[in-house]
Amino acid sequence: MFLSTDKTQTTELPRDCTFSESDWHILAGFRHPVAFSSAVTDKPVKAKLLDMDLVLYRTVDGIAAARDLCVHRGAALSLGWMDDACKNIVCPFHGLHYDRNGVCTKVPSMPDQTQPIPRSLRLISYQAEERYGLIWVCMKPEALRPIPDWPLLSNPTEEWTSFELPVGHWKASASRHCENFNDAAHLSWVHTGTFGNRDRPAIPNYKIEMDDNGMSFGFPYVEVERGFRDGVPDFERDVYYIHRLSFPFATDLQIDVEEDDGRMITNHAYDIGSPTSARETTVFQIFQTNVPNPVPEEFANYQVRVNEEDIVLVESQRPEEVPLNISEEMHIPADKFSIQYRKALVRLFGLGSPQIVR
Ligand code: FES
Ligand SMILES: [Fe+2]
Repeated sequence: MFLSTDKTQTTELPRDCTFSESDWHILAGFRHPVAFSSAVTDKPVKAKLLDMDLVLYRTVDGIAAARDLCVHRGAALSLGWMDDACKNIVCPFHGLHYDRNGVCTKVPSMPDQTQPIPRSLRLISYQAEERYGLIWVCMKPEALRPIPDWPLLSNPTEEWTSFELPVGHWKASASRHCENFNDAAHLSWVHTGTFGNRDRPAIPNYKIEMDDNGMSFGFPYVEVERGFRDGVPDFERDVYYIHRLSFPFATDLQIDVEEDDGRMITNHAYDIGSPTSARETTVFQIFQTNVPNPVPEEFANYQVRVNEEDIVLVESQRPEEVPLNISEEMHIPADKFSIQYRKALVRLFGLGSPQIVR
């Protein structure tokens, strides 16, 4: 019914937080994508990150992100609208206006509009930045790591085409999603309706390169191409995969293919899992190819089918959270990536710690 009068009991954590307090504070220090830029135009948009309801709004001064909560009486700002000049978001309850920085610029019910507005009337705003057609939000003043560096996506030469895939909503943790996207041994077992080759399950002993921002590795595979285009019979083809992970949940998967005529084709599948809650992930994917005149719908439909094959398995994993104590799951040689990934999340960021990190 009422919240306590004791102010020391207030917390930065979202209500019903599904993360440990320590993990929440660490993950809040990364930049995560929360929407495609194209989804936020002239109206406020609701989003969710780390169990926190957010409102995204586009002003003439740039994109903005804040808690989806008006500091006056707690109404959801995502129900509001932009003012005529598109400088302020307007709360639908009592009409308070807030600018891009979350500063209240107007209280319409004040009889004297020349009276100063208290400085405390300010939204809880977060850093928001647009890159690669995505809106990235960091909920701490200092980000732990930069937005992934994908120069080919920011500055493509003319042979490249890129397109956004439908936003995915997985009932799985972002860490399980990320491990699956970088899992070598599952290809031959899970993707047998698309490119997986049950006859070629062996994964070579790949080598992992690590740096402060991420890790990378590559290995050859023999795909079976089925049903990519109507009327084309199944065929095998040699590919080379290069995985480049940026901490914590973003991957650039480069797929090099030699065509029958000797031409090299390269595809990039950029995959970013945004931790909506500890057990839900919003998945943003961008596909980039140097195939001449690609049909985006064809690529997108195929990738959706690939994702559907993964979702069934990843949503079935228990526990939903990746155990960061290495001895809690059994490992096989092909798991080099996930073992090193788990160790890096602990060593570099302290995830999985019982300590409270603020
Ligand atoms: S709750 Fe937003 S203006 Fe009152
Ligand atoms: Fe997969």
